[in-house]
Amino acid sequence: THGSEFVVVANRLPVDRVVDEDGTASWRRSPGGLVSAIAPVMRRRHGTWIGWAGAPDEELEPFEEDGMSLWPVKQTRRDVELYYEGFSNATLWPLYHDVVAPPVYSREMWDAYVRVNERFADAAAEVAAENAVVWVQDYQLQLVPAMLRRRRPDVRIGFFLHIPFPPLELFWQLPWRRQILEGLLGADLVGFQLPGAAANFVRLCRRLLDARHFRQDVLWEERVVRARAFPISVDVDELKTLVAQPSVRERAEEIRADLGDPTILLGVDRLDYTKGIAQRLQAFGELFEDGHLKPGQAVFVQIATPSRERVEQYQLLRDQIEQQVGRINGDYGELGFPVVHYLHTSYDRAELAALYLAADVMVVTPLRDGMNLVAKEYVACRDDLRGALVLSEFAGAAAELKRAFQVNPYDIDGLKSTMLTAMNADPAEQARRMRAMRKRVLEHDVDRWARDFLSALEQPQRVN
Ligand code: UDP
Ligand code: G6P
Repeated sequence: THGSEFVVVANRLPVDRVVDEDGTASWRRSPGGLVSAIAPVMRRRHGTWIGWAGAPDEELEPFEEDGMSLWPVKQTRRDVELYYEGFSNATLWPLYHDVVAPPVYSREMWDAYVRVNERFADAAAEVAAENAVVWVQDYQLQLVPAMLRRRRPDVRIGFFLHIPFPPLELFWQLPWRRQILEGLLGADLVGFQLPGAAANFVRLCRRLLDARHFRQDVLWEERVVRARAFPISVDVDELKTLVAQPSVRERAEEIRADLGDPTILLGVDRLDYTKGIAQRLQAFGELFEDGHLKPGQAVFVQIATPSRERVEQYQLLRDQIEQQVGRINGDYGELGFPVVHYLHTSYDRAELAALYLAADVMVVTPLRDGMNLVAKEYVACRDDLRGALVLSEFAGAAAELKRAFQVNPYDIDGLKSTMLTAMNADPAEQARRMRAMRKRVLEHDVDRWARDFLSALEQPQRVN
């Protein structure tokens, strides 16, 4: 064996291999919150990270990157279509996010999901040292805990789900519901973002598998499997360092000046139908229609990073959002004053930090979101105690960020009035809210999250 004492298994590696048309390959940071959270943990703990490098058919050797040991798992073009774009992102993703898009149920996709999970379990079994700790991440790999336990009964297995875990009434739809639960029950500790998700899981184990449980401890195959909530968070040190840099501060000033120093509302999301982008733009447009805002007075900057571009629902969404942006600018913009700045691209950490500092109102209004790190990043960056956060009640972060301007993202009138209130909040009010939110985020950063999970995983469990 290669003998790593600490192994993380995730569908994605922190770097993404991009091969362009002429065949030249380069590396880029992978998109999404999982990578933002796990990368700092791995840099500090020196484990091995097993995952996919983001390009089909690439066979890569293990390598070191940015202080992390990466162990690539190959996926063929067909695996990518059926396991990643298919079962992971056309079945599980919409089902677990309250079916905000209809899930696809395909037996061929399921078979690929099983096959690829086996491959990740093989890699973990190969990499883990005797009695190692193996931490499996997210919905793409829910079968790995049980598969790994069969191969390596000696290792301690944790699982963390970054996205919501649905209520029984929705999970029940899944033709492979039993297999998924049994896969997760291979872990010693199953972590969720919120207590309600852990409760959903325990209830399902009881109803679907007839498993005994005591509170949130499920008894399964003579073992105790604990289900607990561990709300994930951000790398506060990284963000503090960024916003202390004069270049980042200057860039924030420059962004404001380039836009003509209006009130700036900011959205930063993967271009995903769970994020509620259409609803927030609709509300913003109506504020001009109603005469509450004038062009030149306020702009909406929407960063929409490309995501899962071969999945049909994502293609439909892109067309819809781009049409909508065009319509709003056509209707309400004036020469030199577009009201929406839409950027279909991915930014690095420094540029994002500058955007957070430049924004008067951060608008985070997902229809459903496991946590939403963007909301916490904004709070972590605002050491000036300025700015306002508009936050969906349906983001996991709403449970902690009580002093945000919370809103139901489906309620367009509510969105409009909440955005206006946030825009007009006076500095003292902004500071009161920001101080309370910063206390929470600074005390519960991503290091604390990892420490809490891993120390719970190391606790001995007893069969009662
Ligand atoms: N992000 C980034 N560059 C961008 C847009 C987003 O690095 O251009 C990062 C962002 O800072 C955050 C993550 O992507 O850390 C998104 O995480 P979140 O939990 O908000 O949503 P997810 O994409 O995981 O659904
Ligand atoms: C969310 C998921 C992650 C995923 C990320 C980006 O954060 O919880 O598991 O990695 O989105 O999505 P992608 O499909 O590009 O990996």
